[in-house]
Order: sequence, then structure tokens, then C-alpha cells
Amino acid sequence: MRLFQKKNPQTPERPVPAHIAIIMDGNGRWAKKRGLPRTAGHKAGAETFRRIANYAKSIGLKYLTVYAFSTENWKRSEEEVSAIMELLERYLREAIADMDKNQVRFCFFGDLSRLSPQLQQEAALAAERSKKYAGVQVNFCLNYGGRDEILRAARRFARQCVDGQAVPEELTQAQFSDLLYSAGVPDPDLIIRPSGEIRTSNFLLWQSAYSEYYFTDTLWPDFTARDLEKAIASYNHRSRRYGGVKK
Ligand code: FPP
Repeated sequence: MRLFQKKNPQTPERPVPAHIAIIMDGNGRWAKKRGLPRTAGHKAGAETFRRIANYAKSIGLKYLTVYAFSTENWKRSEEEVSAIMELLERYLREAIADMDKNQVRFCFFGDLSRLSPQLQQEAALAAERSKKYAGVQVNFCLNYGGRDEILRAARRFARQCVDGQAVPEELTQAQFSDLLYSAGVPDPDLIIRPSGEIRTSNFLLWQSAYSEYYFTDTLWPDFTARDLEKAIASYNHRSRRYGGVKK
């Protein structure tokens, strides 16, 4: 079901933001409420992701970035970490098989080297094979942390300076952005966090400088296209001034 009409994002009355990012939070609490193991919550969360990604595509969203596994999530039990990794593997296997039908472009933000060789291979394959599609781009944040991303970019820049390829005083914000995992992707217009938590949790720290936030108590597995629609409607009532004044 498509609740929003696909519109030119420039259309003033109901523009769809170009880039929405989501912290998929609340899977554990969703499972607990039902007396289920936390892993059941992640399974339900993966299904919600499928539905929301389809809906995002149908309304003409250009970029959807999701926080699937953070640099801090390794602190969870081995069982839970494995369950999340298996869900991701399964998702990517299916996405690769159905690629021509779905036409989704995949990109990965994070240090993938700590993931299983299998998952790394699937991520690389999904990214490589989907490069040609022009519709929605899904950015999976995997073993991703905003501080880690900034630190890596700083190290890369320092290395360029040491090698005589860059000059510290000449570094611009645009150049620094290009050193991040998200190079080439516009900053998120809207960041959604379900589950009632009101914090950023190390998500897109550099890129969110002027993002609009939307918080809702709905737990991620219960999040529907209508919730996304509400978030976009809320976004459309905001006045984005980027530190300036309204014209
Ligand atoms: C946060 O909820 C969620 C995660 C750390 C994992 C998110 C992973 C998925 C939705 C599955 C990934 C697979 C695909 C295909 C996207 P939480 O566990 O912290 O919830 P809680 O705060 O209620 O405990």
C-alpha cells in the first residue's frame, strides 16, 4: 500500500525528503513484551525494515540509511550478535537474488573487516552488482560508529598530510565529508528514532549537523508506513534555516 503519492521532491506542498536515516530501536523490548527471546525482536525488526524500504522506494525517496549494527553492539551476547548477523546475511542473499526485480542500490557504512568473511563477501557483491540502479539507495550501517568514522577520516587526512598530498590549513568541510563512509551521499534531511529513546547514539554525528529529528514511542518492529508518513508530515512542517533566518 502506498500512502504517499510519488511526487517530485521539489513539489512544495508535500515534498518527500531526499534522505531519511533510521535508528531501528526497540526490537528487544518488543520481544520482551511478548515473552519472546530478543532474537525474535530482531527477526521482526528485519521484516519491518523490508516493508519500510519498499515503501520508501514507492514514494521516491533517494537515500535510506539504517543503523543495523553499531561499533558498541559487540557488547551484546554472542547469541544475539550471531542472530543479527544471520538476519543480515539472509537479507543480503535474498537481495542479491532479487536484485533485478527490486532495483535497489546498496551501500555499506562501517568497518566491515570485523564481520564474517561470508557477510563481507555478500556486502561487496550487493554493492558491486547494484551500482547500476538509479532508484533508492539503501545505506546499511554495519559495525558503524559516528566517532569511529570521524576518527578514521582524521587519520586518513593526517596520512595525506604526512605524505605531502594535503595541507592542514586548506581542508574544507566538503573535503572532510568525502573522507567519511558516506562520501558522495547528501546529509540526512530527517533522522527517525523509534522506541521512545531520545538520543543520537553515535549515529551519523558529522552528517546530522542540520538534520531534523523525529522521535516516536512506537517500537521498531511495530513501525509502519503510516508512521513513516507521520514522520515525513512532521518534517514538512519544520522550517529549516541552517543557522540563518527565514526568508
Ligand atoms: C536496536 O534494538 C536494534 C539493533 C541493535 C539491531 C537492529 C537489527 C535489525 C533490525 C535486524 C537487521 C537486519 C536487517 C535485514 C535490517 P534493541 O535491541 O537495542 O532494542 P531494545 O532497546 O528494546 O533492547
